[in-house]
Amino acid sequence: MSSSRTQVGIVGGGPAGLMLSHLLHLKGIDSVVLECRTREEVEGTIRAGVLEQNTVDLMVETGLGDRLKREGLEHHGIELRFGGRGHRIAFDELTDGRAVTVYPQHEVLKDLIARRLADGGDIRFGVSGAQVHDHESDRPSITFVDSDGTEQKLECALVAGCDGSRTETRKLIPEPSIRTDHFRQYPFAWFGILAEAPPSSEELIYANHERGFALISTRTPQVQRHYLQVDPNDSVDNWSDDRIWDELHMRVDGEGAEIKDGKIFQKSILQFRSFVCEPMQHGNLFLAGDAAHTVPPTGAKGMNLAIADVYALSNAMDKFFTSSDRKMLDRYTETVLPRVWRTQHFSWWMSSMLHRLPDDTGFGHRRQLAELDMVTRSIAGRTLIAENYVGTPLA
Ligand code: DHB
Repeated sequence: MSSSRTQVGIVGGGPAGLMLSHLLHLKGIDSVVLECRTREEVEGTIRAGVLEQNTVDLMVETGLGDRLKREGLEHHGIELRFGGRGHRIAFDELTDGRAVTVYPQHEVLKDLIARRLADGGDIRFGVSGAQVHDHESDRPSITFVDSDGTEQKLECALVAGCDGSRTETRKLIPEPSIRTDHFRQYPFAWFGILAEAPPSSEELIYANHERGFALISTRTPQVQRHYLQVDPNDSVDNWSDDRIWDELHMRVDGEGAEIKDGKIFQKSILQFRSFVCEPMQHGNLFLAGDAAHTVPPTGAKGMNLAIADVYALSNAMDKFFTSSDRKMLDRYTETVLPRVWRTQHFSWWMSSMLHRLPDDTGFGHRRQLAELDMVTRSIAGRTLIAENYVGTPLA
């Protein structure tokens, strides 16, 4: 077994792990990122595409903004659509000029990987069997098999568990003695498509309709991303292209909106879950991103929340390495958890306000319409949505 040393061993090369490695590098701290997928798989996985203002600012300030500024689409509002009409939430007016940028997660990952490699960063793709040892001591290590089949041992001072919702690192926090898991499953899912088509709308449309929710999003002027609420047990095979477009037209078309059809080239079903584990630290192991929490997709918060975690974690790690002071490290859970729960609430709230509930006899839908009416006719209500959608400042 060959052996190497670094300051921070990072399990997982998604947004949390790669951004953590990048932020640590800028503070002069060494890390190694271990990722079980290949670089091509990481860079090719289709996920959500909306970046909060904070995420954009952090990327620009840390030298990751070139392509984002060139290719990202800045959006200054969204439309909530119900009762056949659109109701605009104007971020610029309601949040002092803050905005979101449509720029897909895998593009962020490409930029992060390119930048880490240009900066001499150490990312090991295609590793297997990563196992963290002695994370309760001050000499943790990670053993793994690299892509050549060689057994490796990485010694480090701190370990970050950034290995996504199928995490192994979370299991190292003993449950139930130390760890509590909070979990909620939703009775709906999203059918997501990518289509070669012109944009149907200048801004994203979140539509509440008797037949179920629909979301009109975009990727580029030539490629659109749309979602339809479906049953969690539904299958992509049940949906011909014609059926998808018919359903999108029924749920969205009306005053001021008409969906533009095109050629669908990607179809997938996304499940809805809320999950939070507390605490997010055990000894010298720190969880960040989906390893610690999952949000339902409405509002596109998952990656933004992962970035907020590692922003706080990188500052705490910096304090530890520069002044041997671990108070910030040991307060990591306390620091990030309020934002995690606010984001859980926002994603749950948007989901519950916009989706058709399977057993609804009519009361639920009317109650949602009243809630949407109340929220959109009030400046306070629109501001609440806008502030949370563009994201509250990083701690
Ligand atoms: C997208 C995804 C979301 O969950 C959302 O709320 C808005 C947009 C997207 O993939 O474009």
